Amino acid sequence: MDRYALIGHPVEHSKSPLIHAAFARQTQQELNYQALLAPLDGFSDTVRMFRAEGGRGANITIPFKIEACSLATRLTERAKLAGAVNTLTFVNDDIVGDNTDGIGLVRDLIINLACPLAGRHVLLLGAGGAARGVLFPLFQTKPVSLTIANRTVGHAQELRAAFAPYAGQTAFTAGSFEDLNGWEFDVVINATSASLEKKDLPLPSNIFAPGAFVYDMMYDADGTPFLSWAHAAGVTQLSDGLGMLVEQAAESFTLWRGVRPKSASVLSSLRSKLASKG
Ligand code: ATR
Repeated sequence: MDRYALIGHPVEHSKSPLIHAAFARQTQQELNYQALLAPLDGFSDTVRMFRAEGGRGANITIPFKIEACSLATRLTERAKLAGAVNTLTFVNDDIVGDNTDGIGLVRDLIINLACPLAGRHVLLLGAGGAARGVLFPLFQTKPVSLTIANRTVGHAQELRAAFAPYAGQTAFTAGSFEDLNGWEFDVVINATSASLEKKDLPLPSNIFAPGAFVYDMMYDADGTPFLSWAHAAGVTQLSDGLGMLVEQAAESFTLWRGVRPKSASVLSSLRSKLASKG
């Protein structure tokens, strides 16, 4: 049976094995997908061993996404720009590195949540790896403007400089949270790790255009502080990042197997399973 794995540290609470098993059942693909804990100093050895045992591909998660970029012998354009890899495919002697996080976010917003991005004013909060990973696919959706705001302004400006050549017709700016005062956005995406620390972001509460959509890339069965804050600020269209998780997995599965699973039913059953546990 073809073998795939999620390689990370930690991996025990990952939902990826569940998601890929559901995709495999649905598309009648014979495969095995397991969570594989790699020692912090043993990522490349873990990949090597998994490959030697017949592994066909792997998803990569925290903290190895950047290391996976150097381990790959070939990188897709979007992985190169993200500077991080979440999907490896072993092809003959090559290790092909790709990044499906950004397309996962975009597909969740546009398809699952019916939140268009073309022609809209988009605000991306954060300037770390998560923000970098989604910028290129966001530009491809042709928003009218894309603003990056971050606690450390310098990080936002560095990201702006790196991605300016890919902005196309999109007005692309970067600044601090305070700079957002007086501006309104149609779509606000939280790519900071503040929700992980259960911290609030010091944002002005008047940044939402009428009918704005707010998305937190993080998932938590109990909700996230960012979504609670946005709701209190009057936003009614909100989503956490569970759909992004399922969509990035669907994209990896499609790359590996050449068949696209239907993600909506997998997402809704995962959500009810997690809600009943939470
Ligand atoms: P990731 O790979 O999850 O993006 P990262 O590269 O460490 O992780 O980036 C974390 C992001 O969350 C950064 O934008 C960080 O802001 P700084 O550049 O100022 O460090 C942001 N962040 C983390 N904790 C935060 C907090 N409590 N308030 C505001 N921003 C925070």
